[in-house]
Amino acid sequence: MALSFWGPLKPIHAEDTLAEHHRLRKSLSWPHLIALGVGAIVGTGIYTLTGVGADRAGPAVILAFLVAGLVCACAALAYAELATLIPTSGSAYTYTYSVAGETLAWIIGWSLILEYSVACSAVAVGWAGYLVGWLQSIGVFLPAALLAGPHAGGVINLPAVLVALAVCGMLIAGTRESATLNIVLVAIKLTALAVFVVLALPAFSGANFTPFMPYGFGSTVDAEGTTRGVMAAAAIVFFAFYGFDAVATSAEEAKNPGRDLTIGIIGSMAVCTLIYMLVALAAVGALDYRLLADSPEPLALVLRTLDQPFAAWAVALAALIALPSVILVMMYGQSRIFFVMARDGLLPRAFARVSPRSGTPTLMTAVTGVAVAAVAGFFPLNEIAELANAGTLAAFIAVGACVMALRRTRPDLPRVFRCPAPYVVGTLTIIGCLYLLWSLPMGTLIRFVVWNAIGLAVYFAYSRSRSLAAQNHPVTGI
Ligand code: ALA
Repeated sequence: MALSFWGPLKPIHAEDTLAEHHRLRKSLSWPHLIALGVGAIVGTGIYTLTGVGADRAGPAVILAFLVAGLVCACAALAYAELATLIPTSGSAYTYTYSVAGETLAWIIGWSLILEYSVACSAVAVGWAGYLVGWLQSIGVFLPAALLAGPHAGGVINLPAVLVALAVCGMLIAGTRESATLNIVLVAIKLTALAVFVVLALPAFSGANFTPFMPYGFGSTVDAEGTTRGVMAAAAIVFFAFYGFDAVATSAEEAKNPGRDLTIGIIGSMAVCTLIYMLVALAAVGALDYRLLADSPEPLALVLRTLDQPFAAWAVALAALIALPSVILVMMYGQSRIFFVMARDGLLPRAFARVSPRSGTPTLMTAVTGVAVAAVAGFFPLNEIAELANAGTLAAFIAVGACVMALRRTRPDLPRVFRCPAPYVVGTLTIIGCLYLLWSLPMGTLIRFVVWNAIGLAVYFAYSRSRSLAAQNHPVTGI
C-alpha cells in the first residue's frame, strides 16, 4: 500500500478490482455525456443568478461571466485529462486520493458535497422562483408562507422541496432512462434561451451600459455590507458554469471513456460559454441592471418589460420544465461520489450497494435527495449558491494541482486526452479559483471553513479507521 504524508494513496485504475455488485453499468456514450454536461451547466446560474450578478457588478456582469468562464475552461481541460486517465467514479475526490492521499481526498470529497448537493438545492430554489412568477402570470397565487423559507418571512419553500424530491425519484428509477429524458429537457432549455436572445437583443440600448463598472473590478464590501465588484459577481455567476465535471463523475459508466469524456466535457463547456455571453449581453442591454437585480425570474422580467408577455410566459415554462435536468445531473454526481466514498470504506458501506434491478446506488440517492430538499426548503438562493461555489472552487484547485503532480510523478501513464500546456493551465486553474474564492463574501468563507471542520471531525472519528486503503485491503468484496 502506497502512503503519502496525507495518508494512504488509492491505486490508479482501482476499478479493475471491484466485485461485480459494486460495479456501475456501462450504459452512457458521448451524446449522453454532452447532454449530461449541458444539462448540469445551463440552469439557475444563467436563468436567475444573472440578476444577482448584475446587482453585484452592474452591466460589467458580462465581464464577470467572462472571468468565471475562463477559469472554468482551464479547469475543464485539467478535468478532461484526469477523467480519462483515472476513469473511476468520484471525480476530484478520486483524483486527489490517487495523487495526494486520503485526508486531502476526504476534504475534497466533503467539499464536493457542497458542489453537488447544495448546488441542487440552489437550482431547486431558482426553479421555485420561476414557478411563482409563472403561476402569478396566469392568475394563481399560492400562500406566501409556503413559498419561502424563514429568511424571507415564510415557513418553507415548498415548491423547491417538491421538485428536489421528484428528481430524486427519477434517479432511483434508473440512470439510463433519466439520461435520455435529460436530452429532451436540454433541448427545451436551449430553445428558450435562443428565443430570449432573439427577442431581447433588438431592444439593446447603449445607455444601459453607462456606467459600465459602477462598483469597480475587485471585490469590496460597501456601506450596507454587500460584497460588490466584478470579481464579487464572478464569484457568484461562477455557479452558472460548473457542472461539466458531472460528466467526469460518470466515467465508470461511459462505454468508451477516452473518446466519450473528452467530447463530453470540452463540448458542453464550449457550447455553454457561448450561450452565456449572448444571454447576459441581451439581458443587460435590454434593461437597466438595477431592475434586473434580485429578481427571482430576471429573464421573464426582461421579456415582460419588453411587452412580450407570451414569450415571458413561455420562457418561464421552459425553465420550469427544464431546470430539473440540472438537479438531475448534479444529484446523480452526488450519489456517485457518496457511493465511491462508501465503497472506499470512508462512509457506511451499506450505501455502496447497487440495486440489481436499476443498476444504481438506491439508498445513497434517496439520502442525497432528502438532504437537498431540506436545504432548498429553508435557505436563501444567493447564500446557498455561494457556498456551493466555495466547495466547487476547492475541488477545481485540487484538479489543477493533480494534473500537474501526475505529469511529474507518473509521466509513463497513457493519457487518452492530454491537457495542453498542463503546467500553465494547472497554475491558472489554481490562481483563478483562489482569486474567485477570495472574492466571495466573508460569511460564505466562514461557513465553508466550518463545513470542512465538521468534515474533518467525521473523518478522524469514523472514516479513518474504517478506510479500506488504510487496512491494505483491495477495494473489493465489501
Ligand atoms: N451550472 C448550474 C446552474 O447554473 C449549476 O444551474
